[in-house]
Amino acid sequence: MVLRDATQADVPVLVELWADVLRRVGTEDQEADLRHVIERLDPALERIVVAEYDGQVAGAVMLKATTATPLNLEPLVQAVSPHVLPAFRRRGVGRALMEATVSFAEERGIGHVGSGALSVSRDANRFLARLGLGPQAVLRAGATATVRSRLDALRPGQGRGRAISQVLAARRSQRHRDASPASKG
Ligand SMILES: CC(C)(COP(=O)(O)OP(=O)(O)OC[C@H]1O[C@@H](n2cnc3c(N)ncnc32)[C@H](O)[C@@H]1OP(=O)(O)O)[C@@H](O)C(=O)NCCC(=O)NCCS
Repeated sequence: MVLRDATQADVPVLVELWADVLRRVGTEDQEADLRHVIERLDPALERIVVAEYDGQVAGAVMLKATTATPLNLEPLVQAVSPHVLPAFRRRGVGRALMEATVSFAEERGIGHVGSGALSVSRDANRFLARLGLGPQAVLRAGATATVRSRLDALRPGQGRGRAISQVLAARRSQRHRDASPASKG
């Protein structure tokens, strides 16, 4: 197995590897995104490591020296999306990507490494847990418009309460129209 830095020539296979974690756009746009990411890597702080197995790209991870959070300034290396193509799994490629992560942290004297796995992915969570990465937080995300509408609905006097009062008001005015002389005959 060989570990090396990603180049622009890797973009098509990286799009295949990371399809689930890229923007939900067409392949061409996903390729453009990755070309942009590779072009703008800051070599002092970032790296995309590609693992080759028998001369074929088998997996990759993006490394980023950052802090634990924007508020917690404890230095940390983020292993962003360590992924291995299904045909190459359970051969130590994932472990090699995490070794590259740890070396990247050690070279910079950074005391922590972190990564993320989908909560539904038992294999990925077990893989990270076995390497000593404990769960720290659950990342939740939703469409801005959804969160806005839920907030609106929760506002006192708004949302469901307002909807019910609107329905009652509409019924009242309907009864009023039905009862008025103009509506007879
Ligand atoms: C999680 C993931 C990166 C692991 O990659 P991998 O290359 O299969 O990882 P490894 O081969 O190093 O280790 C995986 C398991 O295979 C075992 N293994 C390693 N070499 C092996 C071999 N030669 N024979 C049998 N098993 C082996 C390891 O012990 C490990 O077992 P564990 O999960 O019980 O600890 C990969 O499954 C993946 O890409 N998953 C989908 C993407 C994802 O969810 N990534 C999120 C972040 S982890």
